[in-house]
Amino acid sequence: MNVTKAPAACLIGWPAAHSRSPLIHHYWLRTLGIEGGYVIEAVPPEDLRDFVLRLSLRGFVGANVTIPHKEGVMALSAPDGRAKAVGAANTLWFADGELRSTNTDVEGFLGNLDASARLWDTADEALVLGAGGASRAVVFGLLERGFTRVHLANRTPARAEALAAQFGPKVLPLSWDGINEVLPRAKLLVNTTSLGMHGQGALELDVARLPSDAVVADLVYVPLVTPLLATASARGLRIADGLGMLLHQAVRGFELWFGQRPQVTAELRALVEADLTKT
Ligand code: ATR
Repeated sequence: MNVTKAPAACLIGWPAAHSRSPLIHHYWLRTLGIEGGYVIEAVPPEDLRDFVLRLSLRGFVGANVTIPHKEGVMALSAPDGRAKAVGAANTLWFADGELRSTNTDVEGFLGNLDASARLWDTADEALVLGAGGASRAVVFGLLERGFTRVHLANRTPARAEALAAQFGPKVLPLSWDGINEVLPRAKLLVNTTSLGMHGQGALELDVARLPSDAVVADLVYVPLVTPLLATASARGLRIADGLGMLLHQAVRGFELWFGQRPQVTAELRALVEADLTKT
């Protein structure tokens, strides 16, 4: 008898992190009626190379990659433009016998805004807070969508300057003190810092200074509604939350591994929300 094994993907990290990815991918496999799997694999740094090079032999059609391996997998695969621009990859898949990598945070950020705030990308001036890895994905996505002025404020100015140097003259580094001055022109405000996250410092920002048609996005999803998003909503501004981005970033990986593009449904959102509030 010829038994074909169901395709499976995994999440490569170290140590084995608690992740919502299995919940998300299992939901899509179940609702789309696809026989497949998604498991967490704890891979120490010294084993990363061997694990990735034998991914297919281990029976996997692809993988997500998380801390601390997002940079390390770049050299072990063929990164696309998004992974190269962000300097980190979070998704591996096979195409034409080659192991490729991408960064789906870019698509997660864009897809979430598309779903949450129609025509958000007709604006051309944005303010991004933070200059870490998440910020690189956001800035790259905004440039892809045609933004011509992306102000970038960071507590440590040198990191904002380095990012601006990498992405070119449309990215304008800004001191943290300069935020107030830019707010009235920012049609889109994105928080990529950990400020506002449960247990972290507060993000002190005068939302009232934003234009009345501004859109506010926060990458933080614990709590689901950050103080920034709550204030923006109370002012009648459109918002895009961090959970939406988390769900939308998973779409591309699933599509690459299992061949069908899944939907971010209200039911999936409720499922992950319930899991987040459980702990
Ligand atoms: P990620 O990959 O999620 O972007 P990161 O690279 O650690 O994570 O970046 C975290 C971001 O949050 C940085 O922009 C950081 O500012 P610094 O570059 O100055 O460290 C920002 N951040 C974290 N804590 C902060 C705080 N208390 N005040 C202001 N910014 C903060």
